[in-house]
Amino acid sequence: MENLPSSIVHGQFIMNTPLYNGLPTTIIIFGASGDLTQRKLIPSLFNLFRKRRTPKKFQIVGFGGTAFTDEQFREHLHKGVKEHAGFTFTDEEWNIFAPNLHYLAGKYTQANDFKKLAEHLTKLENGDANRLFYMALPPTLFPNIITNLNASGQLHENDAWRRVILEKPFGTDLVSAVTLNKQVHKALSENQIYRIDHYLGKETVQNILFTRFANTIFEPIWNRTYIDHVQITVAEKVGLEHRAGFYDSVGVLRDMFQNHLLQLLTLVAMEPPASFNASDLRNEKVKVLSAIQPMTPEQVAASTVRAQYKGYRNEEQVNPNSNTPTYAALRFFINNWRWKGVPFYLRSGKHLAEKQSQIIIQFKEPPLAMFPMQTMKPNLLVLYLQPDEGLHIRFEAKAPDTVAETRSVDMEFKYSDAFGKTAIPESYERLLLDAIQGDASLFTRGDEVETAWSLIDPILQTWETYQTPPLAVYKPDSWGPPEGYDLLARDGRRWLNEEASMMLEN
Ligand code: BG6
Repeated sequence: MENLPSSIVHGQFIMNTPLYNGLPTTIIIFGASGDLTQRKLIPSLFNLFRKRRTPKKFQIVGFGGTAFTDEQFREHLHKGVKEHAGFTFTDEEWNIFAPNLHYLAGKYTQANDFKKLAEHLTKLENGDANRLFYMALPPTLFPNIITNLNASGQLHENDAWRRVILEKPFGTDLVSAVTLNKQVHKALSENQIYRIDHYLGKETVQNILFTRFANTIFEPIWNRTYIDHVQITVAEKVGLEHRAGFYDSVGVLRDMFQNHLLQLLTLVAMEPPASFNASDLRNEKVKVLSAIQPMTPEQVAASTVRAQYKGYRNEEQVNPNSNTPTYAALRFFINNWRWKGVPFYLRSGKHLAEKQSQIIIQFKEPPLAMFPMQTMKPNLLVLYLQPDEGLHIRFEAKAPDTVAETRSVDMEFKYSDAFGKTAIPESYERLLLDAIQGDASLFTRGDEVETAWSLIDPILQTWETYQTPPLAVYKPDSWGPPEGYDLLARDGRRWLNEEASMMLEN
């Protein structure tokens, strides 16, 4: 490790930072032969290593059903990194990283295989070492794995810590989330649990907080007096991507809203936390979710839209009679002093016109049209989360050489202009690093997950039990069904994202 090639970015091994306890760390990945490990986890860990941000001494141990040798595992991951890493690397760098990778085949239900894992780790570590267990698996397997880890003595902390990262989805409804929380709490305290939502690892999502709380110009107008409404769109161009079987049992509300969209909403709506530490930050997020009233069936009928793209039922592994929605649009109200009466419109779907995640804050119109030719256009603040990451403000200006005509103009900030094209790292990099350093700010707490489910559950129940509102259909590559537009039209509003994107292009 001392003789790293000069292409490896010079930085600090986190070993040298005050947050880290200085012991070697082992990262154990359950579900190691799966897609997530190959596409995201290993490329992220490799890049952290290249930046010298991993602990100086660390090992990665894959555990899974496939019968890999260490060599085969490394080869499999090398392929994945070549294909999926968003950065260029040399084989020289990989060859220094690869000896840290190991593999053990085993079954998640076999207590004996966990004893073997414990022995394997003790041998590899040859002394005290921290252990970070990553569950890159469906949540139904978490309780078994955690029980087996506990029974084999692997969750006991001394100077070395034990932490567990749990992949989403955390449950499929409120009851299952509460049960899962109870099951994991039997063996782990909350501060050992890191529930991942990769949206929180995105730089631009964190930038919502920086925009709001590292500046003074936005916060005084960030409330019901000045803001007319908020639109949060997470549109995906892609469809089911080899996950049709899973997706068909889940649908867009569980897949995107319970986690990503509600997280975005909390960041836009929360009060300034006392500090940026995990408990202050997460307390404020929970307060936002608690200030939203779960919807009654009547409200679900009036304030939600569910839809499926045309052709969905013909997709492989999808039930030909499936009513699973691939698109949803919801209207929420946050009942607190800051937001009372301000609608938050949330929308997400598969196979939409383009990949686009953005938050639009529409301000109120000026109280009075003072200029004779004034068109009454409200100001917009647009946070572009992906792609074309940036921030945009639309305001009115006097058109030159007119007596008093106004025209909308734009002021923009683009990440790529300010920080260069490669400045935005993969979200898993940040999250893995935070978990190693023991910072849970960007992970969801148990009560937060449950409160989010308590908002999603009544919608799911009304949709699934009463089939209300009826399932709409939309053309693939469109912006969703007409019903999605009606939701806003009924309030005298419209989705502004197409207009906002044009602003960015011009
Ligand atoms: C995942 C969902 O959590 O997020 C996927 O399960 C979705 O269905 C993905 O495609 C979107 O993430 P991103 O980072 O591409 O916006």
